Amino acid sequence: MILIKLGGSIITNKEKPLSPRRKTIENLAKSLKRVDEPMIIVHGGGSYGHYWSVKYDMHTQPKKYDIHGVAIVKNSMVELNKIILDSLVKNRLSPYCLPPTDFMTGNKPITKKIKEMEKISKSGLIPVTFGDALWYGQNKTYILSGDKIMTHLAKILKPKLTIFALNEDGLYSDLKTKKLIYELKGEKPTISNNLMDVTGGMTRKVEEATKIAKMGMNVFFVNGNNPQRIVKAVKNGKFEGTLFRGKRRV
Ligand code: IPE
Repeated sequence: MILIKLGGSIITNKEKPLSPRRKTIENLAKSLKRVDEPMIIVHGGGSYGHYWSVKYDMHTQPKKYDIHGVAIVKNSMVELNKIILDSLVKNRLSPYCLPPTDFMTGNKPITKKIKEMEKISKSGLIPVTFGDALWYGQNKTYILSGDKIMTHLAKILKPKLTIFALNEDGLYSDLKTKKLIYELKGEKPTISNNLMDVTGGMTRKVEEATKIAKMGMNVFFVNGNNPQRIVKAVKNGKFEGTLFRGKRRV
């Protein structure tokens, strides 16, 4: 089974509120059609969920955020999710929409539900979930990032490969020269300001990828604008991007 995250920066134009990158989504769907493996897709918020969570000052730590903000963030994620689902269906894939409320309680994953996602993916359906605003309890809510979902899923399901599709070729050792890091064997890359994107999004991705690699699994950062690289990685084990090599094979 493979786990793939479509980052917000690849499926939307982060510079412009509420702007999906339809052609890119379409190309990703076409490539995913060529991946002959059970898979689970997670997508980010980009100029949908992130845009509204910034407006309503909502973050990852549980707090009493503006309840209308929660509604707006959630609503925008459903809208972006629908665009992804439509594109997958149009390309004759069979997505099975699972908002994170289906497998999270508070900030904890529900193991039984996540194991069920694996069964669903093996049937040929593709579970599709996304980062979202979630109920925490005691009138508190929080933003659950798609990157965190990746770690929850990887921990329980031990995918053959965990992929983060980005709007960059991978992780750069230097942002100015865009010198690509091809492989990391357990070492944690130093995240200087230089390596961070505007929202600090890359830092979070690296953190989650490092956690997953430490659990023994390979994690691959790839440019989603070249989705054939995803196909090559899954089919031929050819990694054109950054590979976080898992310490042991699972
Ligand atoms: C964002 O999910 C969720 C919301 C802001 C509602 P992510 O944090 O995974 O999104 P990207 O991929 O960084 O845009």
